Amino acid sequence: MPPELAPEPTSDSCARPNPAGIRRVAVLTSGGDAPGMNAAIRAVVRTGTQQGLEVVGVRRGFSGLHRGELSLLGARDVANIIQRGGTILLTARSRTWRTPEGRARGAQVLRDWGVDGLIVIGGDGSFHGAHFLQEEHGIPVIGVPGTIDNDLYGTDHTIGYFTAVETALDAVDKLRDTGASHERIFVIEVMGRHAGHIALDVAVAGGAEEVFIPEDSKPVSGVLDIVRDSVAKGKRGSIIIVAEGYPGGATGVAEAIEAGTGLETRVSILGHIQRGGSPVSSDRILASRLGEAAVYALMEGRRGVMVGRGASGMLYTPLHETWEKRKDVSRDLYRCAKTLSV
Ligand code: F6P
Repeated sequence: MPPELAPEPTSDSCARPNPAGIRRVAVLTSGGDAPGMNAAIRAVVRTGTQQGLEVVGVRRGFSGLHRGELSLLGARDVANIIQRGGTILLTARSRTWRTPEGRARGAQVLRDWGVDGLIVIGGDGSFHGAHFLQEEHGIPVIGVPGTIDNDLYGTDHTIGYFTAVETALDAVDKLRDTGASHERIFVIEVMGRHAGHIALDVAVAGGAEEVFIPEDSKPVSGVLDIVRDSVAKGKRGSIIIVAEGYPGGATGVAEAIEAGTGLETRVSILGHIQRGGSPVSSDRILASRLGEAAVYALMEGRRGVMVGRGASGMLYTPLHETWEKRKDVSRDLYRCAKTLSV
């Protein structure tokens, strides 16, 4: 049986107004994991308990929600996790949640547990699931952007993005050593299903000769002159960065280079390594701020929004806008990558 509701929070100097009358919140992580998710969970749990609320952790994302995998979390349950990659709550991509029946089961579990609001840490797929839960069943939801892809409108950065860039950059630096020693072309694929944010940052910070991103459909043939030119200038090897979402990926680009120039080319697909590891400080801080803000948002009566950070501070964006509106890559940085690749 679900535990009883906690008494009303007592007032103290830290207590925030709670016009929404929130007493119990649930939190889950969903979709691809991202470094910093644990810091966000910790922030939700500690903010909630400090405000006199009860916090329920849902394991395995929406899959665990409709199966009733819930338990109460206290401040000590989230000790020693701020530095850990992955997510202590586990995560999943749920097929059942895409059905109205699955969402109805999940909503009933939340009602049985007396949950007044759900905080979903994840990316656009997870926010779709959260949006429909609120639309169909009236359960207040708040999104916290957690994805390495940084592809959500409504926040300058997403939790996990900074760490993923550092991880990929470390690999690029190492591949440059071996590439230069063998005088080879290295085509390196980084994650980013629909977005080139990681690719662009890594290309500029890694001194790449060229970068291919899904946001620009420039033909792959343009790279042939770039690598020929590199050889003519006496460069010992070249680094080409390709976002996973660019048509054909790194393999397609490498095949075009070998076929068009005959130069020795190697492909390195960095893959899921970019999702692991201890979060860098920027991800921990972002996650801590957003986790705290998500709890306050529910208490203030906000619903169906994602909390994000921009230059002006905290942002609240309707969940559907986070995937309907597009966050473009920095065109200025894209231009800079080109300028510096000579
Ligand atoms: O959304 C984050 C992400 O890491 C994408 O960059 C990548 O395309 C996808 O997840 C991989 O998903 P999975 O873990 O299901 O293979």
